[in-house]
Amino acid sequence: MDDLPDKPAKTDKPSKSQKPSSSSSGVSRRDFLKISGVSAAVPLVTQVSAFALAEGEVAAQGPGKVPVSLNVNGKKLNASLEPRVTLLDALRDQFELTGAKRVCDRGTCGACTVLLDGKAVYSCSVLAIDAQSHQITTVEGLGEPGNLHPIQKAFVDNDAQQCGFCTPGFVMATKAFLDQHPNPTPEQIKHGLGGNFCRCGTYAGMRLAVMQAAKTKGA
Ligand code: FES
Ligand code: FES
Repeated sequence: MDDLPDKPAKTDKPSKSQKPSSSSSGVSRRDFLKISGVSAAVPLVTQVSAFALAEGEVAAQGPGKVPVSLNVNGKKLNASLEPRVTLLDALRDQFELTGAKRVCDRGTCGACTVLLDGKAVYSCSVLAIDAQSHQITTVEGLGEPGNLHPIQKAFVDNDAQQCGFCTPGFVMATKAFLDQHPNPTPEQIKHGLGGNFCRCGTYAGMRLAVMQAAKTKGA
């Protein structure tokens, strides 16, 4: 790099003849420090975007609201959201899809599980703006009262919930799991649903439900 001396400098002060140099990206060290100093007072998403913009990779978004378009349960849903809004908050607060629950809000409990292109994800840990090009499925997209999905029916048949707060997350995790493991062993079920927690401890009923759904090819 041309802004670093060959030998350690004896003093921190640059000589008057020294000019600020630029990196290969066209951003000098001084410019970068200015960007960092300014962005210290704004949200992390904006910091990342500002740096990426300096590198010429992506355009900055926000911190104000921007148009966001999501494909949820086969429908296109539009909203104006700040880039920091999570997929979970967008689903619950903007689109009134409250099946996914906010419990830990930090990617540890699984109560907010939805499918992104068929893969189970913690929606509290995905930004809505990043979910735009994906197919999102929530528990509302599986079945409804009077027309339950076989996985939901299996949970009811096996008494696989107590307070029920974790149930939508478990149902969605089960959907993703059975899509990948149509004939699971009990050990695979235990391992496959390990990313979801039930504070009521209804695990035995849930594992029976997953087995029933697999046998009836409910996935
Ligand atoms: S609320 Fe998302 S993992 Fe707990
Ligand atoms: S049924 Fe209550 S947390 Fe799982």
